[in-house]
Amino acid sequence: MNHFQYKNGVLYCEDLPVSEIAAEVGTPFYLYSKATLVRHFKAFDSSFEDIDHLTCFAVKSCSNIGILSLFAGLGGGADIVSGGELYRALQAGIDPKRIIYSGVGKRADELHYGLKAGILLFNVESEQELYRLNEVAAELGVKAPVSFRVNPDVDPKTHAYISTGLAKNKFGIPIVEAAELYEQAAGMENIKVLGVSCHIGSQLTLISPFIEALRKIKDFVKRLEEKGIGIQYIDLGGGVGIIYDDEEPPHPQEYAKDIKAELADLEATLIFEPGRVIVGNAGIMVTEVQYTKSNRGGEKEKHFVVVDAGMNDLTRPSLYDAYHGVQPVVEKSGGRKIVDIVGPICETGDFIAKDREFPEVSQGDLLAVMSAGAYGFTMASNYNSRPRVAEVMVSGKEFAVIRERETVESLIQGESIPEFTGES
Ligand code: LLP
Repeated sequence: MNHFQYKNGVLYCEDLPVSEIAAEVGTPFYLYSKATLVRHFKAFDSSFEDIDHLTCFAVKSCSNIGILSLFAGLGGGADIVSGGELYRALQAGIDPKRIIYSGVGKRADELHYGLKAGILLFNVESEQELYRLNEVAAELGVKAPVSFRVNPDVDPKTHAYISTGLAKNKFGIPIVEAAELYEQAAGMENIKVLGVSCHIGSQLTLISPFIEALRKIKDFVKRLEEKGIGIQYIDLGGGVGIIYDDEEPPHPQEYAKDIKAELADLEATLIFEPGRVIVGNAGIMVTEVQYTKSNRGGEKEKHFVVVDAGMNDLTRPSLYDAYHGVQPVVEKSGGRKIVDIVGPICETGDFIAKDREFPEVSQGDLLAVMSAGAYGFTMASNYNSRPRVAEVMVSGKEFAVIRERETVESLIQGESIPEFTGES
């Protein structure tokens, strides 16, 4: 359930017509509903309320500080993957003791920043990273809190680009080799081993891969205990899928029930890193129809709706062939056609929807691209020198611009013309 609903044929975000916001902020823009963000965060977090756990929101999915601070207020932590995300999380007021740091390629300066900030855990993904972290912690005279991200070699049955828990993926330490690294780490001066983590992929619509991974982790934790290495935290990553089209992902409560049943005999704090399931359906992207045209002459006539948002603003359709629902902001009653909804970028791969049956629309109509809250704005770029769009949050009848639209001036900020470009 989300708060983007039609009332008398007009799309509302909570109690505000989307078209009213568009008239004030221009298009394209991302639009988030505060009530939906809160509802989805609580739906996930409260599913585990009867056990010791921490919900660390995956900042990469939606990193605006206005949204992160909302989750901070609900007791949420953050799963970060860069120094930039750490900065955002801290600016948003997330308690460092609720921040965990994942990722295969952490630089020394990023490890330094995390240690200085006093974060809860580093999810270490390689032997070299462990040694680097030990060195950086020694320079600072502290002990680095460590969880190893193990790779359980489980097929999450999702898109190949977002599968992360197979042996052939770059992530984590093979679970069969990890015990040795734990033993090494336990003997290191500036390392404090606290946990085990894993993340097998994103947009999972089945619970079974999570359970398969969890069973492997449970066995692994028991083996570590036999070696005298106690584990305080078990981090199960993110990955619960959402409905974009006709998927049937588990409800967080179902997911929680199965996980809890599986973990009944383990004493540890559970950590989760959900992103998409919290923000995905709490945000849309609003775009305006610029032109409609038909290309005849090929095998069949093609109809295009050209909008003012492109693959630089929402990359998912181009990159993953991902489906996003598209709806006119004001419902249309006329005929329907099969169309491609495309952007202004100079690439054939620049599309939002392909071969979609769609009501007839005209220049100036507003369209809502649904389920765009996760990996929407955060994956946007300036390709084709397009300023990144505004982000707006609604609460009831109010709205706030939580990120201003970039300007053409901001596009060249930091660039300069060296003197020698004028020399022949
Ligand atoms: N934890 C780790 C270590 C991750 O790598 C990810 C996502 C998450 C948590 C959050 O997963 P979620 O709950 O959002 O599924 N750009 C792609 C998704 C990439 C996911 C990468 N890792 C997309 O647009 O589908």
